[in-house]
Amino acid sequence: MNPVYYHILHVFSLFVLTAHTFMAFANPLPENRKKTLMITGIAGLLVLVSGFGLQAKLLAGAFPAWLIVKLVCWLGLMALGGIVYRRPQLRGGLAFAALTLILIAIVMVYVRPF
Ligand code: HEM
Repeated sequence: MNPVYYHILHVFSLFVLTAHTFMAFANPLPENRKKTLMITGIAGLLVLVSGFGLQAKLLAGAFPAWLIVKLVCWLGLMALGGIVYRRPQLRGGLAFAALTLILIAIVMVYVRPF
Protein backbone atom coordinates (compact mmCIF):
# COMPACT_ATOMS: atom_id res chain seq x y z
CA MET A 1 0.00 0.00 0.00
CA ASN A 2 1.15 3.54 -0.78
CA PRO A 3 2.68 5.01 2.44
CA VAL A 4 0.64 8.19 1.98
CA TYR A 5 -2.42 6.24 3.17
CA TYR A 6 -0.53 5.18 6.30
CA HIS A 7 0.44 8.84 6.88
CA ILE A 8 -3.21 9.94 6.60
CA LEU A 9 -4.42 7.13 8.87
CA HIS A 10 -1.62 7.82 11.39
CA VAL A 11 -2.34 11.55 11.69
CA PHE A 12 -6.14 11.19 11.56
CA SER A 13 -6.29 8.48 14.24
CA LEU A 14 -3.91 10.59 16.37
CA PHE A 15 -6.39 13.48 16.16
CA VAL A 16 -9.25 11.17 17.21
CA LEU A 17 -7.19 9.68 20.07
CA THR A 18 -6.13 13.13 21.31
CA ALA A 19 -9.59 14.68 20.97
CA HIS A 20 -11.34 11.91 22.90
CA THR A 21 -8.63 11.78 25.57
CA PHE A 22 -9.09 15.52 26.18
CA MET A 23 -12.88 15.13 26.14
CA ALA A 24 -12.42 12.64 29.00
CA PHE A 25 -10.21 15.15 30.86
CA ALA A 26 -12.83 17.88 30.42
CA ASN A 27 -15.77 15.73 31.52
CA PRO A 28 -14.77 12.49 33.29
CA LEU A 29 -18.29 11.27 34.05
CA PRO A 30 -18.49 7.49 34.78
CA GLU A 31 -21.31 7.05 32.22
CA ASN A 32 -18.97 8.21 29.40
CA ARG A 33 -16.15 5.85 30.40
CA LYS A 34 -17.10 2.89 28.20
CA LYS A 35 -17.56 4.99 25.05
CA THR A 36 -14.29 6.87 25.61
CA LEU A 37 -12.30 3.69 26.22
CA MET A 38 -13.81 2.11 23.09
CA ILE A 39 -13.02 5.10 20.84
CA THR A 40 -9.53 5.74 22.25
CA GLY A 41 -8.82 1.98 22.07
CA ILE A 42 -9.75 1.76 18.37
CA ALA A 43 -7.99 5.04 17.49
CA GLY A 44 -4.88 3.98 19.43
CA LEU A 45 -4.80 0.66 17.62
CA LEU A 46 -5.00 2.46 14.26
CA VAL A 47 -2.11 4.76 15.33
CA LEU A 48 -0.04 1.68 16.11
CA VAL A 49 -0.95 -0.24 12.93
CA SER A 50 -0.33 2.79 10.66
CA GLY A 51 2.90 3.57 12.58
CA PHE A 52 4.21 0.07 11.89
CA GLY A 53 2.98 0.35 8.29
CA LEU A 54 5.11 3.51 7.94
CA GLN A 55 8.02 1.80 9.64
CA ALA A 56 7.87 -1.09 7.17
CA LYS A 57 7.52 1.18 4.12
CA LEU A 58 9.74 4.16 4.98
CA LEU A 59 12.35 2.71 7.32
CA ALA A 60 12.68 -0.62 5.53
CA GLY A 61 11.88 -2.46 8.76
CA ALA A 62 14.65 -0.71 10.78
CA PHE A 63 13.91 0.01 14.44
CA PRO A 64 15.74 3.23 15.49
CA ALA A 65 15.74 4.45 19.12
CA TRP A 66 13.39 7.40 18.35
CA LEU A 67 10.75 4.87 17.33
CA ILE A 68 11.02 3.14 20.71
CA VAL A 69 10.53 6.54 22.41
CA LYS A 70 7.40 7.08 20.26
CA LEU A 71 6.10 3.67 21.29
CA VAL A 72 6.52 4.61 24.97
CA CYS A 73 4.69 7.93 24.35
CA TRP A 74 1.88 6.04 22.61
CA LEU A 75 1.56 3.61 25.54
CA GLY A 76 1.37 6.52 28.00
CA LEU A 77 -1.22 8.39 25.93
CA MET A 78 -3.35 5.25 25.66
CA ALA A 79 -3.34 4.81 29.45
CA LEU A 80 -4.25 8.41 30.39
CA GLY A 81 -7.87 8.30 29.13
CA GLY A 82 -8.63 5.38 31.44
CA ILE A 83 -6.80 6.80 34.48
CA VAL A 84 -8.81 10.06 34.53
CA TYR A 85 -12.07 8.18 35.30
CA ARG A 86 -10.50 6.67 38.41
CA ARG A 87 -8.64 9.83 39.51
CA PRO A 88 -10.63 12.80 38.13
CA GLN A 89 -8.95 15.15 40.62
CA LEU A 90 -5.66 14.60 38.75
CA ARG A 91 -6.99 15.73 35.38
CA GLY A 92 -4.89 18.92 35.22
CA GLY A 93 -1.69 16.92 35.65
CA LEU A 94 -2.89 14.19 33.30
CA ALA A 95 -3.66 16.77 30.58
CA PHE A 96 -0.16 18.20 30.99
CA ALA A 97 1.30 14.67 30.77
CA ALA A 98 -0.69 13.98 27.58
CA LEU A 99 0.56 17.20 25.92
CA THR A 100 4.14 16.37 26.95
CA LEU A 101 3.92 12.84 25.49
CA ILE A 102 2.47 14.16 22.21
CA LEU A 103 5.20 16.82 21.98
CA ILE A 104 7.96 14.26 22.63
CA ALA A 105 6.54 11.90 19.96
CA ILE A 106 6.38 14.75 17.41
CA VAL A 107 9.92 15.94 18.24
CA MET A 108 11.15 12.34 17.83
CA VAL A 109 9.77 12.00 14.30
CA TYR A 110 10.89 15.41 13.01
CA VAL A 111 14.21 15.90 14.87
CA ARG A 112 15.29 12.23 15.21
CA PRO A 113 17.92 12.96 17.87
CA PHE A 114 19.06 9.33 17.96
C1 HEM B 1 1.91 9.64 20.74
C2 HEM B 1 1.94 8.94 19.67
C3 HEM B 1 2.42 9.39 18.31
C4 HEM B 1 2.47 10.65 17.74
C5 HEM B 1 2.02 11.98 18.36
C6 HEM B 1 2.99 10.49 16.41
C7 HEM B 1 3.16 11.52 15.50
C8 HEM B 1 3.65 11.37 14.23
C9 HEM B 1 3.74 12.42 13.25
C10 HEM B 1 3.27 13.86 13.44
C11 HEM B 1 4.30 11.89 12.14
C12 HEM B 1 4.62 12.60 10.83
C13 HEM B 1 3.50 12.38 9.86
C14 HEM B 1 3.82 12.96 8.51
O1 HEM B 1 4.90 13.51 8.29
O2 HEM B 1 2.94 12.83 7.64
C15 HEM B 1 4.59 10.50 12.39
C16 HEM B 1 5.20 9.63 11.52
C17 HEM B 1 5.58 8.34 11.84
N1 HEM B 1 5.23 7.63 12.97
FE1 HEM B 1 4.20 8.36 14.55
N2 HEM B 1 3.28 9.15 16.18
C18 HEM B 1 2.94 8.46 17.32
C19 HEM B 1 3.06 7.11 17.52
C20 HEM B 1 3.71 6.24 16.70
C21 HEM B 1 3.87 4.83 16.93
C22 HEM B 1 3.30 4.05 18.13
C23 HEM B 1 4.58 4.35 15.91
C24 HEM B 1 4.91 2.88 15.73
C25 HEM B 1 5.85 2.25 15.65
C26 HEM B 1 4.91 5.44 15.00
C27 HEM B 1 5.67 5.37 13.86
C28 HEM B 1 5.82 6.38 12.92
C29 HEM B 1 6.60 6.29 11.70
C30 HEM B 1 7.42 5.08 11.26
C31 HEM B 1 6.45 7.51 11.03
C32 HEM B 1 7.07 7.90 9.65
C33 HEM B 1 8.42 8.50 9.80
C34 HEM B 1 8.93 8.96 8.44
O3 HEM B 1 8.28 9.80 7.79
O4 HEM B 1 10.01 8.47 8.05
N3 HEM B 1 4.33 6.58 15.52
N4 HEM B 1 4.17 10.20 13.68
